[in-house]
This record gives sequence, C-alpha cells and structure tokens, in this order.
Amino acid sequence: MVFPFKKKRKRLDEFSLKHGVGLVTYNEPNNMISEQFNTIRTNIQFSSIDKQLKSILFTSSAPSEGKSTVSNNVAVSWAKQEEKVVLIDADLRRPTIHKTFDINNQNGISNYLLGNTSLEEIIKKTMVPNLYVIPSGPIPPNPSELLGSKRVEKLFLELQDQFDLLIFDAPPVNSVTDAQVLASKVDGVVLVVPQGLAEKSGVIHAKNALNMVHANILGAIMNRVSQEKMESYYGTKYGGYYGVTK
Ligand SMILES: Nc1ncnc2c1ncn2[C@@H]1O[C@H](COP(=O)(O)OP(=O)(O)OP(=O)(O)O)[C@@H](O)[C@H]1O
Ligand SMILES: [Mg+2]
Repeated sequence: MVFPFKKKRKRLDEFSLKHGVGLVTYNEPNNMISEQFNTIRTNIQFSSIDKQLKSILFTSSAPSEGKSTVSNNVAVSWAKQEEKVVLIDADLRRPTIHKTFDINNQNGISNYLLGNTSLEEIIKKTMVPNLYVIPSGPIPPNPSELLGSKRVEKLFLELQDQFDLLIFDAPPVNSVTDAQVLASKVDGVVLVVPQGLAEKSGVIHAKNALNMVHANILGAIMNRVSQEKMESYYGTKYGGYYGVTK
C-alpha cells in the first residue's frame, strides 16, 4: 500500500484575525520587548540617511509571520517620538487593525478606493497620541485592482500632506500581488522574517519579487514567532526581534 505524501503545512494563525495583535509598546512601554521595537524604529530611521522616509511598508513572504504585530508596534513606538503617524491596514484579505485598535471597520480604505467616502471619514484617532489608523473597510472582491488604482496616488498625496509618516501593514508578497503593487509606491519596505519558520526559498522569492518592482528594501526584521502565543508574548521566548539588516 502506498501512503500519500503528507506535506508539512504551516497552520494559518487566526488569533490576530479575531482579536487583533498584542500592542506591547502601548500596554507595557517599559518592557524589554518595547525597547526592542524602539531599536527597530531607530534602525529603520537610520537605514535611509539620504532621504527622509515618509512612507514604509511591512510585508513578509508568507501569511502569519508577524507583519501586523511588528508594523503596529513600530507605529506606536514612532508616534511616541511626537511624529504624526498614520497606520494603514492595506491587508484587504486578512485585516486586523480594527480589532487591535478597537475601531469600527464599516468604513475604511476599501470604501475610499471605491470612491464611496472621504479621507476624513476613514482616518481614526487612537488611544496613542499622534497615532491615527485607517482600517481596511469591508473586504472587497478585487483587492489587487483596488490597491493598483489611480485613487491610491491621491491617497498617498493627501496623507503625506497631513502626516509625518505613513506605515502600511500589507499582505504577504508570495501569495498575492497587493504588496508588490504598494511596495513600488512607498519610500521603503521592511521584510518580516520569522526565524526558524520562514522557508529560505520563500524569503528569496519575496525579495526578488520586491526587487522586480524596484522596491527600496530597507532590511529585514527577524521575528521569532512562537506557537504559544500569549504566554510567550510576555515571556522570555519572545525575544526574537533583531535590528534591520540588509
Ligand atoms: N515574536 C513573536 N512572538 C510570539 N508570537 C508572535 C510574535 N510575532 C507574532 N506573533 C503571533 O503570531 C501570530 C501572527 O502574527 P501577525 O498577525 O502579526 O502576523 P501577520 O503576518 O500579520 O499575519 P497575516 O498574514 O494573517 O496578516 C499572532 O498570533 C501573533 O500574536
Ligand atoms: Mg496581518
């Protein structure tokens, strides 16, 4: 009898979809992990010496690798420096920002890109001073098309006028073209790589895909995603953030 070959599959993490991500930088600003996020922020700032970064996109090769956790915490850390920051949920397939910041998701970037609402209506204040968020809005049937539309250019111009920094929480590079489309428009891209979990070939593929659209890859953040979510979140296992390296 021949047994079918069982492919080892990484389980999609649904926790953050339901509850949002942990904002350690807000909840425990003096925690060692918050310090690590501050270091990441500083490293990102220094990774572009010639040009001041006005927009940054966080992505990874595959789903559930920590993009939202890292981008959201870096956004909090940045806003604490008294810079006016807007965090945009550009993951129109697995959005979490409305859960993390406990805001209504009836009106968001998808509505704006469809021309159904004004920018003022989708920018939401958060509990963190200087930090604003734009939720995804209802999940559209055609995210790639929406994110590639002309209205995105308008969105960029208007947001850059109002904020010091735009941070995009994007989908993974290897599954859909959404991240590539946006990566070509931002000043810098940061790749989140879960150490020991990411497949090397997947990360290389993601990097090549980003290079293909001439994205400015600032570096990678090594993130050690643990299965024992919350307990490891505040425990010693959660020590896997490293600086940005080329
Ligand atoms: N360093 C870490 N240590 C422990 N758990 C982590 C770490 N980073 C992320 N996680 C957990 O891993 C899960 C996935 O994280 P997150 O939602 O940030 O990933 P994502 O890449 O945004 O996923 P998606 O592809 O669905 O958007 C969450 O449960 C999160 O709490
Ligand atoms: Mg996410």
